[in-house]
Amino acid sequence: MRTQVVIIGGGPSGLLLAQLLHRKGIDTIVLERKTRDYVLGRIRAGILEVGFVDLMREAGVATRLDRECFTHDGTLIAYGNEQFEVNFRKHTGTSVTVYGQTELTRDLYDAREAAGAEIVFNVEDVVIHDAGTDRPSVTYRLEGNEQRIDCDYIAGCDGFHGVSRQTIPLSVRREYEKTYPFGWLGVLSETPPVNEELIYSSSERGFALCSMRNANLSRYYIQCLLSDSPQDWSDQMFWDELRRRIPDAAAEALITGASIEKSIAPLRSFVCEPMRWGRLFLCGDAAHIVPPTGAKGLNTAASDIYYLYHGLIQQFEDNDSEGLERYSEKALARVWKAERFSWSMTNMLHRFPEQSAFDLKMQRAELEFLRENETAQKVFAQNYVGLPY
Ligand code: APR
Ligand code: PHB
Repeated sequence: MRTQVVIIGGGPSGLLLAQLLHRKGIDTIVLERKTRDYVLGRIRAGILEVGFVDLMREAGVATRLDRECFTHDGTLIAYGNEQFEVNFRKHTGTSVTVYGQTELTRDLYDAREAAGAEIVFNVEDVVIHDAGTDRPSVTYRLEGNEQRIDCDYIAGCDGFHGVSRQTIPLSVRREYEKTYPFGWLGVLSETPPVNEELIYSSSERGFALCSMRNANLSRYYIQCLLSDSPQDWSDQMFWDELRRRIPDAAAEALITGASIEKSIAPLRSFVCEPMRWGRLFLCGDAAHIVPPTGAKGLNTAASDIYYLYHGLIQQFEDNDSEGLERYSEKALARVWKAERFSWSMTNMLHRFPEQSAFDLKMQRAELEFLRENETAQKVFAQNYVGLPY
């Protein structure tokens, strides 16, 4: 087999890139380790920057998103029983879009299948060959049979645990990592959101987040121990703890219900440099991870896809490699700013083990400065809605 671009990974990064390239007549094959249903069964974030929505529109996959999404002009930030709004529209002229990653991934799958795209599921033993040459290829096993695809370029969209990043030689790769001493316990419930906008809450008992997917599907998180497991937390225990960590008015307004999903995610900051090795380009979680605090995971994958998509178009249409040559530099410049914002929000809002009284005063001062200072709110809003591509 031969194609122009092999895309390893059928998550949002890989599917979005495939759909964008398809609209420009560029052939791709997506190789996915799992099944479509397995991929769609993952519960992930739901805050989209305007850049992501623009890409979905350019990909011709934004009809349902535009019909069903919420638009948020701001977010609430709470500490103790205090709360304030950072108004994105006031400070940046833009908003964020609330639309679940599961739904946008579903829309991308539907679009790829409507286009008769080639997505190979249940692949095993994917190996990237000769990425450092001008004749790369990818082999994999399907139902026990070895397959080979010759291609021009490879997009490594296979997430943190994929093979793409590992293909870059250790002598070339530089990895930067920070792990946080806590996780997020998340619950999905078929209940109306407690508030129209999100509530990020810093309490003496730990962080909490009130989010949503639609008018009757809410997503809540509480900071938890890394040693916790979802089974340790009954629904009632979760709701009681959430109520203790959010302002009284929200706690009283909270409508609880049975959890339809309950999971714990560790928090990590991670970046791999470079994001390119010859004809192999890393995108999304394959190259970088952020703590979910700033809702930057999916949105930073989007800017990677934007840079790679335009670099590939420039190459295929104009035989100009400038975009591909500068891919890693441009993608990393934005990745690091998203890493910084996510790290900063995580430090501001969570309780850390062994925090001193002074440390707690620093957190309080940062929250109060953000509450009182228009410039601080403008900087927060610019980062939250998404820095320019
Ligand atoms: N071969 C083929 N597919 C693979 C392999 C492999 N060796 N390893 C992983 N995959 C698939 C996974 O099954 C997954 O469907 O690659 C896909 C990677 O998808 P994501 O992990 O969702 O990463 P990405 O598409 O970059 O999206 C980033 O999704 O996971 C969230 O928090 C993340 O919001 C961020 C966004
Ligand atoms: C979510 O809705 O899952 C969500 C929202 C905002 C975040 C993280 C997760 O910062």
